[in-house]
Parts: sequence; C-alpha cells; structure tokens
Amino acid sequence: MKPLRIALTKGRLEKDTVALLDRIGYDCEAVRNKGRRLILPVGDRLEVVLAKAADVITYVEHGVCDMGVVGKDTIMEHGTSFYEVLDLGFGRCRFALAAPKGSDFWSGYSSRTIATKYPAVARAFFESRGMDVDIIKIEGSVELAPLLGLSDAIVDIVETGTTLRENGLEIVEEVCPISARLIVNVASMKLRKNEIESLIAQMEREKGGTARD
Ligand code: PRP
Repeated sequence: MKPLRIALTKGRLEKDTVALLDRIGYDCEAVRNKGRRLILPVGDRLEVVLAKAADVITYVEHGVCDMGVVGKDTIMEHGTSFYEVLDLGFGRCRFALAAPKGSDFWSGYSSRTIATKYPAVARAFFESRGMDVDIIKIEGSVELAPLLGLSDAIVDIVETGTTLRENGLEIVEEVCPISARLIVNVASMKLRKNEIESLIAQMEREKGGTARD
C-alpha cells in the first residue's frame, strides 16, 4: 500500500511536527536534510509534503494529502471541509486586535479601518460585536498599516508580543487562542481508518513533550 501522505506547514510548525514524528519513532532524516525537495519519505509508511499553510488545507481538502498540520488561524480563515482531529499543543499564539498605544479604539462613532492578513476572522470578530468596519487585506508585517496611517488597528497573530511592542502598538482585545491542529481528509478517514487512527493516537500520546508546551 502507498504511504500515508501528510502535509506540513513549512517553517515554525514544521520543526515542531518533525520533532513529534521523531519521538513517535519515524526516521525524519530526509526532512531535516531536504535541500529544496518538497516531498520526502519518512520511513516506508509515511510521506511528508512541505507547503504554505493555506496550501496544506487545499491539498487535504482535495485528498491529494491524507492529513495535514496547520495552524488554527489558517483553519479559521479558510474553512473546514475536513476533519480537525487533534490539537497538537505547539505553535501556540493568539489572534488579537491591536492599535497604536494610547489610542482609544472603542470610543467615538467614526467608522474604523482594520488591516489584517485574516479578513474572514476580522469580519467575524467585528460582526460578533455588531460593529461595521472597513477591512483591508495585507500580506505580511501587518503592524506597518497603522504606523503608515492606512488603518486604525490590526487583527493579527501575537506570539511573544515583541513586534507590537517594538512598533508602538498594544493589544486592545484578545480574539482567541491558536495552536497547531492535525487535519484529515474526509475520504482518507474512511479508506485508511486504521493507519490514520493509530497515527492520531501516537501523536496524542507524544505531543506533551514539545518545547513550547
Ligand atoms: C507573525 C505575526 C506578527 C508576528 C508576531 O508574523 O503576523 O507579525 O509574527 O510575533 P511576536 O508577537 O512574537 O512578535 P510572521 O513572522 O509570521 O511574518 P509576517 O508578518 O511577514 O507574516
């Protein structure tokens, strides 16, 4: 039978996921020494694919990858036509609404402009407050937008808080916590139930020991 294929989000989550697979007993040498290769064998039962977060979801939704590891932030932004089976406990951070220090975000009646990489998350947050805002999509370093005068505030990921602090911004309100999740394609869950359930169980057992837990 062909190996199970798991898509990992490149970068920070990749490292923690590889460490987890290592602890379970998979030989992740090929991932560590990957060079520019993007599909990597991990033992003979598992194949790792490295992709950007939103693409992990696309590959799992389309069934070309059986499973994926992706942040809850990306899941919240891009939808959920797959099973979210496990909170892996690493990649912990939070969504927050942040604004220039000392600005009183909630006061006054003028319409607010929000910059964010996550327009769906920002829209849902403000809808839950019954507040109509203008949302501008930014691709990275969202903290720049209020500094340049493009927006009144941002909705973004905060991990250590350093980026906010060093740019004169502060949290107005926390939106929700985020961490890495294991997701599974709906058909794979049926067709390869035993293999997938056993990998989920192994990951659940071993996930406790990651550095950021
Ligand atoms: C994320 C996020 C913040 C920063 C928060 O950006 O968008 O900018 O990390 O981390 P901190 O609270 O520890 O400072 P990322 O590094 O992913 O880069 P990007 O802004 O270019 O997307």
